[in-house]
Amino acid sequence: MRYIQIKGGTSLHGEVAIQGSKNAALPIMAACLLVRGVTVLKNCPAISDVFCMCSLLQSVGAKTEWDRDALRIDASHITSCRLPEEFVTKMRSSVILAGAMLGRCGEVCLHTPGGCVIGDRPIDWHVRALEQMGAVFEEEGRLMTARAQGLRGGRIVLPFPSVGATENVILAAALAKGRTDICGCAMEPEILALCAFLNGAGARIVLPERGHIRVSGVNALRESEYRVEPDRIVAGTCLIGVLAAGGRAFLRNAPAGQLESVTALAGKMGARLVKTGEGLYVERTGRLCAPGFVETGVYPAFPTDLQSPLLAALCQAQGQSCVAERIFNGRFAVASELNRMGASIAVDGCCARMEGGCRLLGQDVTARELRGGAALVLAGICAEGTTRVYGRQYIDRGYEDIVRDFRCLGADIDDKTEL
Ligand code: EPZ
Repeated sequence: MRYIQIKGGTSLHGEVAIQGSKNAALPIMAACLLVRGVTVLKNCPAISDVFCMCSLLQSVGAKTEWDRDALRIDASHITSCRLPEEFVTKMRSSVILAGAMLGRCGEVCLHTPGGCVIGDRPIDWHVRALEQMGAVFEEEGRLMTARAQGLRGGRIVLPFPSVGATENVILAAALAKGRTDICGCAMEPEILALCAFLNGAGARIVLPERGHIRVSGVNALRESEYRVEPDRIVAGTCLIGVLAAGGRAFLRNAPAGQLESVTALAGKMGARLVKTGEGLYVERTGRLCAPGFVETGVYPAFPTDLQSPLLAALCQAQGQSCVAERIFNGRFAVASELNRMGASIAVDGCCARMEGGCRLLGQDVTARELRGGAALVLAGICAEGTTRVYGRQYIDRGYEDIVRDFRCLGADIDDKTEL
């Protein structure tokens, strides 16, 4: 069994290059199904969620091929509309293939992805929006089939700025008849990246105002090349690692402009940050101060994906803190493992309260989901003694190589295998 071994208790120093964005790459890969030809995605992250999406694209007839960090997707021929259950249930975000498949071939068959450790994660808003555009859904148990005799544009109002639902509507609208106005939509950087990619392939998408995306359907999209943006959550994870452990680092290519809520909080907690044209410099040499109250929210608020890594820093900060999780209903799962390392986190519904100034001690801990796994790595880097983090497969879903990245920052961290 593989695990990550960390000998913690020292500060971080070094430079790390930030990988391509998982949450930008996945919807863009789905969008490639709308192109009757070849798309090349440069700086595509080599992570298991991307590999899973490649398997899904291949299962409907597309071809995918890597050329170093560039992923070549040839969707000239679609030969099936059925998405294999093993891949759909492995990766919830596969649901965004529905909009792309309906836009490309008017049919899709997939299992409802179901919930996961961090929350129930229904897809009711996705279904309702696609139905408004003319899709007809039939369900048989967990198998869902959607068909559309030509999607039509319209005014779609989302009850909440859901990232996935927004992406699904954009993908369905790109080749639909007429104009689609998506109101109350998500405006995360990954949404803007999807729009930029589609416009680069000939789509007609504008953003008249915040929370409103307008898509004018076109007849076809063309082949293109696109460079995937750096991953703001991976950059934020490294930033919080330096904040928690102390030290100084340069995060090359970090999209500092997409991390303002995180850099503002880090500054409040005692870090010094300098944005440069090449990335973000972060340093924390003095006290780690508790910020008091932090709440997650939709962009540009503090991102829910950095809430678990932040817990690893807050439990050591001087002073009490309270974190309110406003996006998912189960995203404090990692608190119990952090408490086993010496943290003092009390979870009460959507809030986690923590006494600060805890001294973390190395432990054998297990990751049960992606960002909680990253939080355990950060805690291991800060803890006295040796920490072994099991469940690495969850971390590999979103981090190309978390051991490589934190070794670049001077951590004593290794990949190990237990026979
Ligand atoms: C995307 O998930 C990201 N995943 C998540 O990142 C991220 O945490 C999330 O957006 C919020 O920013 C990808 O981009 C692949 P939502 P998504 O739809 O689209 C509820 C990571 O760690 N909801 O914005 O699934 C839902 O349950 C991952 O990289 C409904 O109720 O998030 C949640 O409570 C984790 N009905 C809230 O909305 C629906 O139909 C926000 O979900 C859809 C969503």
